[in-house]
Amino acid sequence: MAMKMSKRVLITVVSILALAGGVSANDLNTKEGTKRPILIQGPMPIEAEKFAARLENVETEKSGSTFEFYIGTVDDYPVIVSKTGKGMENTAAATAVAILKYNPAAIINQGTSGGHDPDLNVFDIVLGERTVNIGSMKTRDRAEGDGIVATDWLPMDVMASEGSAGEDPNAEKARYYEADPDLFAIAKKVKNRYKKGNVVEGTIGSADLWNNEVDRINWFHKNYGTSVEEMESASSAMISKAYGIPFLAIRILSNNKTNDGAYNPDTAAANQEYVYEVVQEYISFLKNQ
Ligand code: 5AD
Repeated sequence: MAMKMSKRVLITVVSILALAGGVSANDLNTKEGTKRPILIQGPMPIEAEKFAARLENVETEKSGSTFEFYIGTVDDYPVIVSKTGKGMENTAAATAVAILKYNPAAIINQGTSGGHDPDLNVFDIVLGERTVNIGSMKTRDRAEGDGIVATDWLPMDVMASEGSAGEDPNAEKARYYEADPDLFAIAKKVKNRYKKGNVVEGTIGSADLWNNEVDRINWFHKNYGTSVEEMESASSAMISKAYGIPFLAIRILSNNKTNDGAYNPDTAAANQEYVYEVVQEYISFLKNQ
């Protein structure tokens, strides 16, 4: 009897400890007892296929005409590579589809980007401490004939309320999505394994927009604090947040207009090599939970 009691107490204590910690072993398992996968997103084939080729036991699945999923393992842990296609809509939809289909434990959105910071060079990598939609804007009031003044435009937060963003002064701000602290810490921990450039922490700006005007790039850098721009991360961050899924964006510079850094497509593969290191480290972290 005394033996039975202490066993029960032990189980209760273990359960309480598991609940008190951030991610519990239960969070990482589905109802069927299988592990929840890590989802790695890349927009273009050159940004997804290198990582997909490193998966073991791979099967592919398609959703719609464009979303491709490579379902496999890394170090015996389930990992899914998702080729999202380019841009905010593709990425938001691919993220929602992946969440509902595969119930991922974490999402990493990775790929190429263009520099907004003149101190960053092609092949440097930015860990997205935060992401922000830099295409979400409200213009000032100007009458016919008063022109278009893009430097006067205000940021717009479509998540400020469920009411009209046009009328709500609280919506006149940028919404930043913060990186998951564990994913961010683990990515920082393996920084030194990347040898082709520097790995820095920064702000990733996303929009269906490719800026080639250096004054405009400088304007975003100053007003939004952006390190780089690309077309996906903030969209995935928004949907990941809606479902409470840990998120991190990892973006390599493939070009930088602010310091004449010419576009180099080989950066896409280099980023996937680094992200693979991050994923391996994250897997050992999850296995020790
Ligand atoms: N501006 C916008 N998107 C960029 N990309 C790389 N560099 C830039 C840039 N300077 C990425 C986007 C998109 C594709 C065109 O390349 O994320 O997926």
